[in-house]
Amino acid sequence: MKILKTKEAMRAWSFAQKAAGKSIGFVPTMGALHEGHASLMRASVAGNDVSVLSIFVNPTQFAPHEDYGQYPRTWDTDLAMAEEIGIDAIYAPEAGSIYPEGYATYVNVEGLSVGLCSGTRPHFFRGVATVVTKLFNAVLPDRAYFGQKDAQQCAIITRMAQDLDSGVEVVEMPIVREADGLAMSSRNRYLSDADRAQALCLSQSLAAAQAALDAGERDAEVVKALVRDGMAAVEIDYVELVDAATMAPLDTIDRRILLAVAAQVGPARLIDNLKFVPSEITQGASAPAEAEACC
Ligand code: PAJ
Repeated sequence: MKILKTKEAMRAWSFAQKAAGKSIGFVPTMGALHEGHASLMRASVAGNDVSVLSIFVNPTQFAPHEDYGQYPRTWDTDLAMAEEIGIDAIYAPEAGSIYPEGYATYVNVEGLSVGLCSGTRPHFFRGVATVVTKLFNAVLPDRAYFGQKDAQQCAIITRMAQDLDSGVEVVEMPIVREADGLAMSSRNRYLSDADRAQALCLSQSLAAAQAALDAGERDAEVVKALVRDGMAAVEIDYVELVDAATMAPLDTIDRRILLAVAAQVGPARLIDNLKFVPSEITQGASAPAEAEACC
């Protein structure tokens, strides 16, 4: 497994792979890897001739008061996991080489970046879209793998890859959960045992919403109220029910939806979500093909 620390080395490696006719799969991460990241790496290894993992804690997606300085850095175990899964190269640039002095260019994906996580993290998606553009330019992937755990991020990157003619196919992978349902996250390490027990209310409330949706509930307010009640013990950032394609809030569940939650649990800000397609619109219709193509 190659460790590449500069964009020049990364691009040279990727050009050599392309010259040899090999397809490149790419998994962008901020490290502190867990089974969620592993699922993306496995999909990349299975679907491409060679695979690149990036580990870069991106300063432009953190606000000054957020956890950039404390974000967990677990280089040795990350490397061991990547090697075991069969990753061919790790791209781990220095922050100074990604954002050198005088850096002035940012990517902003309009529309989709409004609402949900941008409410309390207004800087966030601009930083994500910018760094992913730069990572794509260095790694030159054919396919890039993102998790539904960050559903709004995935929708934004899909839009951006299309709009900027990147030629990268964005693949969305399902949320990987702990045995008790908690969505895996690098930030789960911040949780005490008591926080960890409280954090379960996110996935449990979503499971209750799933049951209501399966039973035919189509009023968004009713579903959101159910989730808010279930999350009463934690500090809710948002409970939103939106069109999964546009991220626009909905009153009625009459299309493919994203039900997304965010909450502060002890020192950690956690997110979780579910997607749902009403059976009315799937029965005998051709809608799912379009729905599946998008995050
Ligand atoms: P990070 O939080 O490290 O996540 C890297 C990728 O792993 C993202 O696509 C995320 O959605 C996915 N992921 C995280 N937890 C997951 C889970 N439980 N199940 C499935 N996939 C999961 O997201 C970022 O980094 C950054 O914003 C990045 C895209 C790298 C840009 O800096």
